Parts: sequence; C-alpha cells; structure tokens
Amino acid sequence: MLKDFISIEDLNSEQVSGLIDRAIADKALFRAGQLPTSLSGRTLAMIFEKPSLRTRVSFEVAMTHLGGHAIYLAPADIGLGSREPVIDVARVLGRMCDGIMARTFAHDTVRQLAQHAQVPVINALSDMLHPCQAMADLMTVKEHFGTLDGQTLLFVGDGNNVACSLAMACAKVGMKFIIACPDNYHMPADFLTTVRAIGGDDCCTVTSDATEAASRSSVLYTDTWVSMGQEDEKHQRIKDFENFKIDADLMSAAPDNAIVMHCLPAYRGLEITDDVFEKHAETIMSEAENRLHFQRTLLHTLIADGGIG
Ligand code: CP
Ligand code: NVA
Repeated sequence: MLKDFISIEDLNSEQVSGLIDRAIADKALFRAGQLPTSLSGRTLAMIFEKPSLRTRVSFEVAMTHLGGHAIYLAPADIGLGSREPVIDVARVLGRMCDGIMARTFAHDTVRQLAQHAQVPVINALSDMLHPCQAMADLMTVKEHFGTLDGQTLLFVGDGNNVACSLAMACAKVGMKFIIACPDNYHMPADFLTTVRAIGGDDCCTVTSDATEAASRSSVLYTDTWVSMGQEDEKHQRIKDFENFKIDADLMSAAPDNAIVMHCLPAYRGLEITDDVFEKHAETIMSEAENRLHFQRTLLHTLIADGGIG
C-alpha cells in the first residue's frame, strides 16, 4: 500500500489508470447523490507556502463532500521550517489529523512531511511536480475522448512542475507527450531519462517546433511562463517564451477535434490568447472541476482505504 501521493512516479501503471477510472466512477456516484460520506469525523491539514484558488477550494470541498473537515494553514501561521522544523510539524499534524496536504516551494519539504508524518501526505504542488493536476487532467482527457489510448498531449511552454507531472502520467498510461519549449527551459534531463525509462524512448519528445507538433496532437496544453517563485524572472521569461503560446495560428495546425487545456491561472495574451481560451473554456473549466473529483477519490483512497493498493 502506498501511504502518500507525492509523485506519479511512485505509482505503477495500474494504480494510475485505476485512480483515474475510480475518480470518473465516483464523480457519477456523487452526481447521483450516492457517494458515501466515508471520512466522517476525519480532518485534513492543508499547508500552503504559495497562493491557490483551485487547490485550496477543491480539497476543502472534497473533505466536506466526504463528511470530514479541512484546516487551512497559512505560511505566516505555522512558519514551516522557520518557527519550527518540518519534521516537528509533520509529527504534530500526524498526531492530530488524518491526512496532510502540502503546497511547497522545495520538493524536499513535501517528501520530509511524508517521511515523518504517520498519516497520508499529498503533494498539492511543489517547485518540481503537480501530480494532482496531471491526474485530474488525464481524467478530463479520458472523459472527453472516451479513452487515453492513442492520445498525444502537446505541452507548449515551460518544462515546469505541471509539464513534468503530465509527462510522467502520460508515460504511465501509454500516452505520447510532446513538449515545445525554448532552449534553457527543458524539463530536467534526469527527469526526462526517468520518464523514458518508464514509457519508452518515444513516449516523450522535446521540440522547438510547436506547429509541427500540433499537427499530430489531440490535446494542446499550456501553463504560465512564470511559475510561483519565479516572479523575478518575469521580464526575461516573457521575451524568451514569445513563440511558445497557444493562439489561433497554432490551433489551425492542430486536428479539428483537438482540445485545449490549461491548469489555470491563465495569463491571457501571454501563454494563451483570449479567443482560444474562450473557445475552449468549457473544457478548461471541466478540467478545473475535475481537481475536486479526482482529489475526493484520492482522499477516500488514502484515508478511508488506508493507501493506494
Ligand atoms: N491549477 C492550480 O493548482 O490552481 P491553484 O494554484 O489556484 O491551486
Ligand atoms: N506552474 C505553475 C502552476 C500553477 C498551478 C506554478 O507553479 O505556479
């Protein structure tokens, strides 16, 4: 049993596919009013070192749906690593709560929490990974196309936390992943090696030609060029990423039935134009909603079932 959800790399292919399918099934049960409140009396601690809309609201609402409760812990309140060490925060929360969700800068912080807390720990975004986002995204792709088989996801932009988790998720389920990005903004080389070792050499392609890649993709995905914590690089990044956006020109190279996805928040006029965003807003908002559905299933699996089996 896997106690924590830190990286999709930690799950085998069956566990990744199984969680996606279970989230789709649970969503239908929820909508029919038939999802049991399996976390009655249970509490989730939510640690945030960075801002959030979707992640905070979706975890909190998911706990409400399951009959439990969530506590928001702001950086200034707990001083993770400054007021007291991560190891003590992990041990104290583990004694009082039934699960911990953490959004951190350093990836090692969420790993340390998992190592020292006796309860499940969920990575809700670190500088390196955003696994909940990638799982909800593949859930959205599966709902839209009915299958993940044969799908190719083109990520246009920075080789960041969202790109890395999507690449890993695609490798686990047998989807093709392409990233179109400028030089100097690739995913870390060792991470790429790991992804290819899991999914095969051709599962993950790096290119600078977004237009060519769009012609063979069913999903066009983008994220901000300036992630949380990179605000000082904003000016340079906006220059460097100028040719790596989703706009009407790029969409004209894609198949007619291709969908557009964005993890949000979106910066219209930068990584995506307003016209493309609004044309695909229904898919993008379903993607956002699926954060709630995937995480509700994840919370049930980790806390009520005792782990990912
Ligand atoms: N996509 C996402 O994680 O959004 P938030 O930063 O608002 O949580
Ligand atoms: N790459 C972005 C994702 C936001 C959900 C960031 O880390 O800020």
